[in-house]
Amino acid sequence: MPKVTIDGKTIEVPQGTTILQAARMIGAEVTPPAMCYYTSLKTSGGYCRTCIVKVSKMSEANPNPIPKPVASCRTNVEEGMEVLNYTSPEIVEARKGVVEFLLANHPLDCPICDQAGECHLQDLSYDHGSDDTRYEFERRKFKKIDLGPFIQLHMTRCILCYRCVKVADQLTDERVHGVLNRGEVSEISTYITKAIENDFSGNMIDVCPVGALTDKTFRFKSRVWFTNPVSAHRDCKKCCGKVTLWYKGDEVLRVTGRKDKWGEVEEFICNECRFEKKQTLDWEIEGPTAIDRHSVISANHYEKIVEPSLFKLNDIKPFED
Ligand code: SF4
Ligand code: FES
Repeated sequence: MPKVTIDGKTIEVPQGTTILQAARMIGAEVTPPAMCYYTSLKTSGGYCRTCIVKVSKMSEANPNPIPKPVASCRTNVEEGMEVLNYTSPEIVEARKGVVEFLLANHPLDCPICDQAGECHLQDLSYDHGSDDTRYEFERRKFKKIDLGPFIQLHMTRCILCYRCVKVADQLTDERVHGVLNRGEVSEISTYITKAIENDFSGNMIDVCPVGALTDKTFRFKSRVWFTNPVSAHRDCKKCCGKVTLWYKGDEVLRVTGRKDKWGEVEEFICNECRFEKKQTLDWEIEGPTAIDRHSVISANHYEKIVEPSLFKLNDIKPFED
């Protein structure tokens, strides 16, 4: 098992582990952000470059550095490898440049975007962006596109991470959307007017790191920080049936897959659970969902609740909006 050192912390990992996975095993303090890599989606990663790190020593056998930053999600660990992430001023500076590129065409519409509060690009720009913009050109413009009955695409917000394309490829029977064109004119598009109507298409909403793919049943209903996430499950024949219900008062405003501390869905869910089961009676309630990543969501929501067994929906009161 190769040993790798990241920002001075050493860990032994199974052969074939990437630098990003090794960093996650060590902890958040050494882990680079990842906007396109998604553990459960094969061949994801390698598109956004937010996860760049500096390899200061390639391996025990070859102690030379790699002369340019590498994408940690696509580079495997080697025995004796040494990696610098937050301890490298060049990487911190280079990542700022990556964030600047990702934001070059991204509209500053967070105040009206449904993803605000749980947007990875918002987090990324707070943590790694620069305070200023040097961009003087007109941003790309697109009309909103309906992708089937449940999903709306705001192409202006898309960062072309390809995660939704991988979901369509790997989870649904037939992919009817993808990235058309290349470079400045690339865009997510359905093939002609085909809608995405298969059972697992809703997972594209969960994997989209920004507000480009939004849930039409939830759009503009509430800011996410005014809702209360609650873990629940049901006996579903199509998927695991384990979800997070997002309540406002007694009303379930939306249903999503459960996410881990890296913001990735633990298990994908079907469209029936996501879009058609919006009554409390449809679900076995487990209790409040702990959300580490976006403290804004869970702040002060469950003051009165001591343990899940005492949990009652009426105990949680939404903030006024
Ligand atoms: S729509 Fe979202 S998930 Fe799809 S490529 Fe754009 S940013 Fe990524
Ligand atoms: S997360 Fe590695 S390139 Fe996007």
